[in-house]
Amino acid sequence: MRVLFVASEAYPLAKTGGLGDVCRALPNALMEKGVDVRLLLPAYPSALETLVGGRVEASLDGVLGVPDGRLISGRLPNSHLPTWLVDAPSLYRRPGGPYTDEAGADWADNALRFAYLSQVGALIGLGLAAYWKADVVHANDWQTGLLPMMLRADGRRRPRTVFTIHNLAFQGLFPLETARGLGVRDEDLTSDGCEFYGQASFLKAGVRFADRVTTVSPTYAREILTPDFGVGFDGLLRERGADFRGILNGVEEALWNPATDPRLPALFSARDMSGKPACKAALQRELGLPVAPDVPLVGFASRLTQQKMADVLVEALPWFAKVGAQLAIVAQGDPAIAAALAEVGRLYPDNLAVHIGYEEPLAHRLYAGADMMLAPARFEPCGLTQLYAMRYGALPIVRRTGGLADTVIDADAETLAARTATGFIFDEVTAGGMIGAAERAFALHRQPLAWRRLQLQAMGRDFGWDASATEYLRLYRDLLDLTEPRPRPAEPVDVAEEPPTIAL
Ligand code: ADP
Ligand code: GLC
Repeated sequence: MRVLFVASEAYPLAKTGGLGDVCRALPNALMEKGVDVRLLLPAYPSALETLVGGRVEASLDGVLGVPDGRLISGRLPNSHLPTWLVDAPSLYRRPGGPYTDEAGADWADNALRFAYLSQVGALIGLGLAAYWKADVVHANDWQTGLLPMMLRADGRRRPRTVFTIHNLAFQGLFPLETARGLGVRDEDLTSDGCEFYGQASFLKAGVRFADRVTTVSPTYAREILTPDFGVGFDGLLRERGADFRGILNGVEEALWNPATDPRLPALFSARDMSGKPACKAALQRELGLPVAPDVPLVGFASRLTQQKMADVLVEALPWFAKVGAQLAIVAQGDPAIAAALAEVGRLYPDNLAVHIGYEEPLAHRLYAGADMMLAPARFEPCGLTQLYAMRYGALPIVRRTGGLADTVIDADAETLAARTATGFIFDEVTAGGMIGAAERAFALHRQPLAWRRLQLQAMGRDFGWDASATEYLRLYRDLLDLTEPRPRPAEPVDVAEEPPTIAL
């Protein structure tokens, strides 16, 4: 079975959040199951720098009127995953992030940048851009939403399509005229197509036209069928009926393992936790907090957005300081929230450490050094933070929503007695709700044996990708009506030297 996995980020080529982790881990897990899976990403500068063994495979001149396109093939570092980068210097080679400029403003040509990625994905899928064609094209989030529509519109024998919603809040909205200029047909610019309240929504194109639609946890899949969480998509998703479902994300265990993680000052595991206090002390030193082994250290590694209740966190900060806890924040996002966090942080230097910025290695050290990780959210499609936290023996404090509700077991009288508890859950979207759960966590943290048991329970949960990758595989097979994938060699398959000509 040949699967083309198309995304706007995949660690370490590009990552702004959980999407980057999943779009690396899931194809890797599928490859381990014998699927001939290939990844397609834009050739951002970071991706070109990181790709291993990159070489030009085909010219893409003229696709969507972009003059300088090329397809570069290589593989992901520390992985055999064959990876294509679509290189169009005029679209992707610029400083800043995958979606925004250095000041945080969306790139003005994002519609073209991601329509182009989708168009090249469609060409590869059909076998028109490389000596390979896909049985299934798996697109992710709005940036690749046009892809299922482009393939549906193609009269030739086409690959089946799967579209995964990682976050319904990002809808890829552009003026109808912009979409028309990108070749979207008039009949697709209606409410039966990708028109959404007078604009074109790339996300809607994916949800509407993919053969199957998934999201990243069963609870979020149920929530977004309701008007409260569906943000205008609930009706459309309900229409998709059994073609829409939730499959839980996992943890890439090779990358997120405190027993082997090269970024940690000391290693530890459920069996031997002796390295964790050293990680905590090193983190306290690194962030300028007093080195205090018994003070509860709470971590927060997140985007600073409404989704993550970062505004509510600002209100709760003084409480953490007043009860003598330590809170270590590694986060980036809304400049006003960042400024507010930094300001309160300066008032309580012994209790609050605020690091504004995106720093992957520091996030690993934070999970390892923290006693608890705060992962609140108004809505959460899956959330990986709480999964990494559990694996690193930092008990998650989360709100009961989406994937957080699916993965954390609240420590109440019953689950403590049954020895199944793995964290602390609250319900209200308020500072009081967050504080209530933190209070319960601190009370248990004062009981070392009870705490140790909770850590063991959290670290013992299996959130590996195997089960979920098997579910995706079943979904692909259902689509193709295949029974077994063809085995593929462990090494990346070499592609032909000669660029094929592209029929457009
Ligand atoms: P989302 O994708 O909605 O941001 P997830 O919990 O799925 O939320 O994934 C967040 C990912 O981004 C995790 O890998 C987390 O460690 C990482 N992360 C978030 N903020 C930062 C940051 N400022 N620095 C480093 N890593 C971060
Ligand atoms: C999105 C969601 C997050 C999810 C991630 C990966 O960024 O906000 O909940 O874990 O995608 O699927």
